[in-house]
Amino acid sequence: MARRMIETNLTEEDIKIEGSLRPQCLADYIGQTKVKENLKVYIDAAKLRNDSLDHVLFYGPPGLGKTTLAGIIAAEMGVNMKVTSGPAIEKPGEMAAILNNLQPGDLLFVDEIHRLNRQVEEVLYPAMEDYVIDIIIGKGAAARSIRLELPKFTLVGATTRAGLLTAPLRDRFGVIHRLEFYSVEELKIIILHSARVLNVAIEEQGAEELARRSRGTPRLANRMLKRVRDYAQIRYDGVITEEVAKTALDLMDVDRMGLDYIDRNILITIIDKFKGGPVGLDTLAASIGEDAGTLEDVYEPYLLKNGFINRTPKGRTATDLAYHHLGLEIPS
Ligand SMILES: Nc1ncnc2c1ncn2[C@@H]1O[C@H](COP(=O)(O)OP(=O)(O)OP(=O)(O)O)[C@@H](O)[C@H]1O
Ligand SMILES: [Mg+2]
Repeated sequence: MARRMIETNLTEEDIKIEGSLRPQCLADYIGQTKVKENLKVYIDAAKLRNDSLDHVLFYGPPGLGKTTLAGIIAAEMGVNMKVTSGPAIEKPGEMAAILNNLQPGDLLFVDEIHRLNRQVEEVLYPAMEDYVIDIIIGKGAAARSIRLELPKFTLVGATTRAGLLTAPLRDRFGVIHRLEFYSVEELKIIILHSARVLNVAIEEQGAEELARRSRGTPRLANRMLKRVRDYAQIRYDGVITEEVAKTALDLMDVDRMGLDYIDRNILITIIDKFKGGPVGLDTLAASIGEDAGTLEDVYEPYLLKNGFINRTPKGRTATDLAYHHLGLEIPS
């Protein structure tokens, strides 16, 4: 299957451009007002006490700025950030080594934290709570456990699947924030800013059209900006106008609400195969050939947020808006 234009997960190409586009401080971070306000208070308070920040967990769909926020916290606190991820750490010893190498105040960022295995996760419990780790030395009858003190540090965890986090791990975070989709206005500001950094000529209406179609996600907004810029240079005179943005995104099969063929396929499946629903998550996932977790955490949030589907106790249903958007008649 062709790669989705609106693939929200990180791609090679994103890594190259994201570095330069990432906001470096809270003041430059657009949107997520509630999260920002809270973090500002915690950061200021921690700095005042000359203490490290409480452990922070960010969750929400991909590309909304979790990694960016972790970097900003480190910068605002004036500490180093060490980066790792759930799937990268296989053994408890590896986690112990990472923790043992932290300097006082350091921020440890664990991406995809829901993918830590149980034994590795258990190393984190005392580390987060009491800043100690217990390591076993020796084997068999001679084995004994010694306790190592760690410097005070801040763990920042990020996950797209908060539901998969175990309760003991979740409970050890003092601050838990859910990141929300961005408004068109916020995305427009992000797009105009990125355009300046990347030296792309864009008109207000062009930026707005991109903002409308980037499904509430800054990563997509930046990616679309680059694609549409290429299109503007080859087919037009290089300036992204509303018309250029519309034509280019239509061509990339991203519709005026930011939905692509997978989203539309989800809606059509509910409508055609299941008479508009309700249909259970697993059944729906199987019918469209997607994994249920991905459907729930990556595709559904945007469709729910924008009122294309409803989640009921019996399953998902298509809304009138979904029928309307697809140009279908609403059954009586
Ligand atoms: N609030 C924001 N203001 C401006 N740009 C932003 C903002 N949030 C994110 N971005 C841009 O979007 C890109 C993606 O953000 P980031 O990598 O932090 O997302 P993420 O939530 O960590 O995604 P994933 O779940 O895939 O790890 C960043 O490189 C940055 O350029
Ligand atoms: Mg990230």
